[in-house]
Amino acid sequence: MSIVVTGATGHLGQLVIEGLLEKVPAAEIVALARSEEKAGALAARGVQVRIADHDRPHTLAGAFNLGDKVLLISGTEVGKRVAQHQAVVDAARTAGVALLAYTSILHAPQADFMIGRDHQATEGSILTSGLPFVLLRNGFYTESYLSDFSAILRSGRIESNAGNGKVASASRADFAAAAVTALTEGGHAGRAYELSGDTAWTFADLAAEITRQSDTKVSYHAVTSEERRTALLQAGLPEAIADLIVDIDEGIARGLVADTAPDDLTRLIGRRTTPLAESVANTLKAL
Ligand SMILES: NC(=O)c1ccc[n+]([C@@H]2O[C@H](COP(=O)([O-])OP(=O)(O)OC[C@H]3O[C@@H](n4cnc5c(N)ncnc54)[C@H](OP(=O)(O)O)[C@@H]3O)[C@@H](O)[C@H]2O)c1
Repeated sequence: MSIVVTGATGHLGQLVIEGLLEKVPAAEIVALARSEEKAGALAARGVQVRIADHDRPHTLAGAFNLGDKVLLISGTEVGKRVAQHQAVVDAARTAGVALLAYTSILHAPQADFMIGRDHQATEGSILTSGLPFVLLRNGFYTESYLSDFSAILRSGRIESNAGNGKVASASRADFAAAAVTALTEGGHAGRAYELSGDTAWTFADLAAEITRQSDTKVSYHAVTSEERRTALLQAGLPEAIADLIVDIDEGIARGLVADTAPDDLTRLIGRRTTPLAESVANTLKAL
């Protein structure tokens, strides 16, 4: 019986594997990856590597064994993910895994924006499968808002159509730690956890925090959805991605990811979630 992590070579997957290595022997951990080469560093640490691509369901045939615990990390391709996740659920059911954990979205049933739909469909197929499950309904990663840090400092500008909407984000490390708890401790089967940060911030708060910690004055510019879409297209983003980003920030404006309650994330990881200020400081240090 092993703990199998899909998307193991991604950002979240690697953090989950790091956390698992602190709790269980490497030989009991399986990294499911698309590329042997990318998974090489994990194999070197004694983690088992199995190669599978969710777009090619037959490659999932040997991915899981009876009694495994599986973490399905949601895929990156919005629109294609429902079929990709279904392939993993089907393979897990055929194998008879003991637990299927899934990284969903905060308040999935009410998440009425584009990225919510894939998660709702996958939660549905997991429930239908009859497998013991745990739904890790992740809020947003703080890192997502800091990935263009150099550009923010260069322009002194953060632009969004999120208005004064709040984001109760947490760090990827926080969400990874929650997944490790759910996979290594008993008593989580059948639960749906709403995982968000302990504090919620607005884009104006984010701009103020970056200003406070850097030598640069950064301002928040609230724009309309149409203005944002036009700016994203002018910056060269494909139409589908621009629409997705605008839709996400409209969801933020509607308060879909603002909720700091219940304290599921803090309770699962046994500590406060990483504050925005700490994530900003870490990003500045890494520049
Ligand atoms: N909560 C948030 O704020 C937030 C933000 C961004 C994303 N997400 C979601 O959280 C997930 C994990 O985030 P992350 O930062 O770790 O993303 P990431 O670094 O892009 O990792 C995604 C992982 O999924 C794997 N993958 C993608 N398509 C696949 C396929 N067809 N078959 C098998 N594996 C496939 C990738 O494999 P390769 O390593 O081979 O590319 C990668 O390991 C994302 O995929 C997305 O669903 C959440």
